[in-house]
Amino acid sequence: MKVGIDQLSFYTPRYFLPLEVLARQRGVDYAKFAVGLGQEQMGVTPPDEDIVTLAANAAEPLVRDGGAGIDLLLFATESGIDQSKAAGLFVHGLMGLPAECRVAEIKEACYGGTVALQMAAAMVMRRPASRALVIASDIARYDLASPGEPTQGCGAVAMLVTANPRILALDPEVGLHAEDVMDFWRPNYRDEALVDGKYSTRLYLGTVEKAFARYAQASGRSIDDLARCCYHLPFTNIARKAHERLLKLRGRAEIGPGEVDAAVVEALGYNRRTGNSYCASLYQSLACLLDQCEDDLSERRVGLFSYGSGSMGEFFSGVVQPEYRQHLLREQHKRMLAERSELTYQEYEDMFQMKVPQDGWDYVFAQYRTGPFRFGGITGHKRRYERAA
Ligand code: CAA
Repeated sequence: MKVGIDQLSFYTPRYFLPLEVLARQRGVDYAKFAVGLGQEQMGVTPPDEDIVTLAANAAEPLVRDGGAGIDLLLFATESGIDQSKAAGLFVHGLMGLPAECRVAEIKEACYGGTVALQMAAAMVMRRPASRALVIASDIARYDLASPGEPTQGCGAVAMLVTANPRILALDPEVGLHAEDVMDFWRPNYRDEALVDGKYSTRLYLGTVEKAFARYAQASGRSIDDLARCCYHLPFTNIARKAHERLLKLRGRAEIGPGEVDAAVVEALGYNRRTGNSYCASLYQSLACLLDQCEDDLSERRVGLFSYGSGSMGEFFSGVVQPEYRQHLLREQHKRMLAERSELTYQEYEDMFQMKVPQDGWDYVFAQYRTGPFRFGGITGHKRRYERAA
């Protein structure tokens, strides 16, 4: 039986900062961001968006039927809003999903979305009538003026996981690599991640090789069996570095001109414009590939590499389904990115500095541009979500 992604929806907030503006403010050559890192813009959340509204806004197009039959909702995030309650329960309420549903939150840095996807696929394999909603939603924050700042971003991806999926059937073979390291982490008392940037990049690239080697052994496939590859994208140029590493593992001296870009470039466009969205980043890249690739990918195999600092890596793959193009939300994604408002440097910094009040009083938040759902305020330490007017 085939199991995998039946529908895929991506959401990013209505505001962005051009990295040209950030480069000017920081006195850095813009080419470092645009060429060196492969980033052009950074998605920015207004004060009335958080991981719950990003998630609900991503999920909304997938549950317009009321979410009939959804009996699992897994919410993956690095940017949790509560130490106890699963963010997925807020989304469950906003979407009006059935009460007979298993809901939980999953954490492993940027890798959580892949745990959620694989667990959902295993559950559907056991009970083929089940439909699972997997959501990956994150806001990437580093200290202002730190090396990580130009890679900041945000976004959410919602995926319906079913039997006989219409978009991507997952292969059962995977390659895993786990290692106890401190390359990127965020203690509970901090809103901004701490990172050993160069070390984290080295670990990512070492992990992709190890995970791919195990995937190749388990599946009997080589990199040449994959029509395209999507990577976790803390910044988009890392996909080129990772893919080059995997091509070199073939043992051939030469990599053909354009061979790396031919496999990865169509999957980079959305992330170049939103920045890192941690758990959502890989799936945002997959959405970009499927939406934008001019070649028909029907029946072709796509490789995916998920990396979460700390660290976990997984290489896996899936076969794109016939007629997949009829089920994409390509126009909606295009419109959403095109209609965003550009921020000045000061507006970005003001939004960055805005913190959710912690004193337990009542607050009503000003309305900014959002998707259908917004974070309306906070009362007695309880967050209040609502439909945007
Ligand atoms: N024109 C063109 N290119 C330029 C340039 C210029 N004027 N100036 C510099 N560059 C290039 C550099 O040569 C470099 O490219 P290569 O790596 O190919 O040599 C690139 O731009 C970046 O330059 P630096 O390495 O000097 O940049 P940096 O040290 O200031 O910061 C970073 C880079 C360490 C990745 C930093 O952005 C960072 O800490 N980011 C957050 C951590 C991160 O993203 N880690 C990735 C792996 S961990 C992970 O994947 C989990 C996660 O999501 C966080």
